[in-house]
Amino acid sequence: MVTRSLLSGFGSYLPERIVTNDELSQRLDTSDDWIRGRTGIRQRHIVGEDETAVSMAAEAARRALAFGGIDPQTVDAVIVATSTPDQVFPATAVRVLHELSATGGFGFDIAAACSGFIYGMATADAFILSGKAKCVVVIGSEVYSRILDWDDRTTAVLFGDGAGAVVLTASDDPGNRGLLSTHLHADGALGDILYVDGAVGRSGHSGHLKMNGREVFRHAVGRLSSAVDEALGAEGLTHADVAWLVPHQANIRIIEGVARKLHLPMEQVVVTVDRHANTSAASIPLALDEAVRDGRIRRGDLVLMEALGGGLTWGSALARV
Ligand code: COA
Repeated sequence: MVTRSLLSGFGSYLPERIVTNDELSQRLDTSDDWIRGRTGIRQRHIVGEDETAVSMAAEAARRALAFGGIDPQTVDAVIVATSTPDQVFPATAVRVLHELSATGGFGFDIAAACSGFIYGMATADAFILSGKAKCVVVIGSEVYSRILDWDDRTTAVLFGDGAGAVVLTASDDPGNRGLLSTHLHADGALGDILYVDGAVGRSGHSGHLKMNGREVFRHAVGRLSSAVDEALGAEGLTHADVAWLVPHQANIRIIEGVARKLHLPMEQVVVTVDRHANTSAASIPLALDEAVRDGRIRRGDLVLMEALGGGLTWGSALARV
């Protein structure tokens, strides 16, 4: 029997405050029509003063562990994908371990921008397959509202805050359930089309998100389509085997482009970008949690995930839930 990383728990957290496109257009030269037409976004959740990457990650993790009936004491590792940590160190993940009272585990953060959750799943899977961990919580938690330039209409309208978590546990499930494969890519030559223009190590301040949206768009569909083909090809599967596409939620037009290349009807795509906007590393686990809890994604379904973000980084993951 093959050991696999079973997706054993799902959880998420969204801040209470919702900011609509109309609210944004009161202070920026933009409109609901423009934002919805170009991106599919209608609203986003924005953190309150006391909410942070740690507080949201911890709540998403608590919910994921509760979902799976998993005792936090059995957690071997927490991996948090985030570009917006509370502090340079301790790592977000270590703070989360403490919040969970998971005293026996280790933890660290991953910085791969919007692809961070896929990078986190791949890393957790490697720990599990090598026998170094049996239970790993992978979290994406982001507070992009604190790195946006709120006077820049080309970026401020696109992002939101939130967190999502998945618990991976070592399993010898004979039904071939679990994470089947992950595929990671990066191209540093494209680092200047989507980046944050600061960090304490260089400028002493945290900086703002900058983006050449057109260039990002141009690279997105092609690279994401190759990544999903790669994931299916690695398992000898085709698009017809896919029950659900759970894409990174940046823009409905990119999502539709990838679905079209996969010949997948939009009814088989989990979409949250309309309500959450782009929550970066949190977007896939937020979408997964929603679709598992509302009964769309069911036990045994083949789920394909993909993401692309600053770096550029991109990748895919294929799982039988
Ligand atoms: N409201 C109104 N007008 C806006 C605007 C806004 N929020 N943002 C930009 N515009 C204007 C621009 O200033 C430009 O005006 P101009 O023609 O007078 O110069 C016009 O709209 C077109 O801008 P452009 O950037 O060419 O628009 P676009 O069709 O490329 O759409 C994005 C912009 C950002 C929606 C699109 O490029 C995109 O989705 N890119 C991918 C972004 C992404 O997914 N990033 C995250 C990856 S993880």
